[in-house]
Amino acid sequence: MQKKGAQREAILHLLEEEGGVTEQSVRTVSKQTGIPEADIWGAGTFYSLIREPGERRLICQGLTCKMAGSDALHAELAAEGVPVEAVSCLGQCDRAPVYLEPDRTLVSRAVHFWGITPDDPTLPINLAGADSADYAALAKARSMTTAQILDEIEASGLQGRGGAGFPAHIKWRSVVGEAETERYLVCNADEGEPGTFKDREVLLRRPHLMMEGLAIAAHTIGASEIYIYIRGEFAAERSALEAAIAAAEIPVPVHIVAGHGAYICGEETALLESLEGKRGMPRLKPPYPTQMGFRNKPTLIHNVETLACLPAILLRGGDAFRAAGRTEAGSKLYCISGHVACPGVYELPLGVSLDELVEAAGGYLGTPMAFSPGGASSGFLPMRLRSHPLDFKGLGKVGSMLGSAGVVVLNDTVDLAWAAKQQAIFFEDESCGQCAPCRIGTRYVRQSIDRYLTTGDPVALQHIEDVSWEMDQGSICGLGQIAALPLTSARTHFPETFGHREIP
Ligand SMILES: Cc1cc2nc3c(=O)[nH]c(=O)nc-3n(C[C@H](O)[C@H](O)[C@H](O)COP(=O)(O)O)c2cc1C
Ligand code: SF4
Repeated sequence: MQKKGAQREAILHLLEEEGGVTEQSVRTVSKQTGIPEADIWGAGTFYSLIREPGERRLICQGLTCKMAGSDALHAELAAEGVPVEAVSCLGQCDRAPVYLEPDRTLVSRAVHFWGITPDDPTLPINLAGADSADYAALAKARSMTTAQILDEIEASGLQGRGGAGFPAHIKWRSVVGEAETERYLVCNADEGEPGTFKDREVLLRRPHLMMEGLAIAAHTIGASEIYIYIRGEFAAERSALEAAIAAAEIPVPVHIVAGHGAYICGEETALLESLEGKRGMPRLKPPYPTQMGFRNKPTLIHNVETLACLPAILLRGGDAFRAAGRTEAGSKLYCISGHVACPGVYELPLGVSLDELVEAAGGYLGTPMAFSPGGASSGFLPMRLRSHPLDFKGLGKVGSMLGSAGVVVLNDTVDLAWAAKQQAIFFEDESCGQCAPCRIGTRYVRQSIDRYLTTGDPVALQHIEDVSWEMDQGSICGLGQIAALPLTSARTHFPETFGHREIP
């Protein structure tokens, strides 16, 4: 890599070391790197953890935390005199409501206990099991040819667990088929979808499993280096990962890069931009990262959970992994939060129903009314779909998505118009702003719900379907394409909630 590229890649980290974006810090970093001050301002101000230096508590305003009383907690903390900043979901929905102390220590005011699948060695990931550093699956991979490994991954039916459910073997074959031999492997550990906290548990409990998956992938595609982009707020998770890396024997350099508080950097091309020291704005595709990714070289990007599936596939065979699923291949880490007795992460066959998942989580609290199957991006579904398979294809057929499997249950004490507004706020805050339909549309959606909630007049929502269509058609990435879904799906499935309202 050219020297200039290395300097560019370092600027976000250097700004963080200097305490955030200030006139002084920008000048210093510019002198250190030779990158113009304007560029450094431009990149640094994109990221909330760099933009606003200073000690403050970060309070989560994700939907689950809001339902668990984060507004009251916010008021209580503000009264203590320490600055408090409301931030998008902190990925701790099983412990809601939560906030982070200025040193990033997590504080939870949860009233319910959170849960996890019991230790079961027959499960491909077995989240509650002992984390082993014997790397037996990697040893097996080393004894196989590249073609044999690729065939095993294909036989397993493994689909990416980061949200899109794209077949893993297609991406691997694409990278391996590139003539360029400088190739990169990137682990997406930026977990930021509201309702999702499964990667967090893998990083904390089974970091070796994920590292072994990375080692297998790096070996197969001939990666020169591995980059792990981990959510900036994940302090304990980062420590667990660092310990695992220190104990592991990974044949290529492994770098950990912390995110800086931008949800959009979970989108794979925004992540690459961020790794390169730029604003985290998604790229137009094609070219795909497998062709031109990090540093414009072929790059394989996978989610933490996807990587953690690889050792079981290599050791027990692709067919065994496939058989662990029900309607689609493999087991799945489902996150469940909201109105259930034991919010947590449960590993179950891919394709179980909401009722089965909630049974594992100790049952519903109150009378269930609606659920989001895959975080904010999946909208709201009615309880008549409680027996529907929670999988990639099946949820697509009912206008939703499994996404990252961040399932949130809402009981009948929740006003769905209010809930849709919380999701609209999230997307408005997190839009990177480069596409007009997304930038303007996310604001329009939130403003429409505001107008509806203050006037009680459904006319405030009359243009929503058209705006939603424009957003879907005119946005570069998935954020803008689905940002109106919480409102449009709630209106479709719960029309009675969106009629004329008496405003007190
Ligand atoms: C707005 C947006 C946010 C995303 N956030 C994440 C994320 O936090 N973690 C993740 O693994 N994938 C996320 N993705 C999906 C990634 O773009 C990409 O598909 C994934 O990292 C590929 O890994 P996989 O094949 O293992 O799923 C996001 C996608 C979009 C559109
Ligand atoms: S759709 Fe939204 S978040 Fe995605 S690139 Fe466009 S403006 Fe950015």
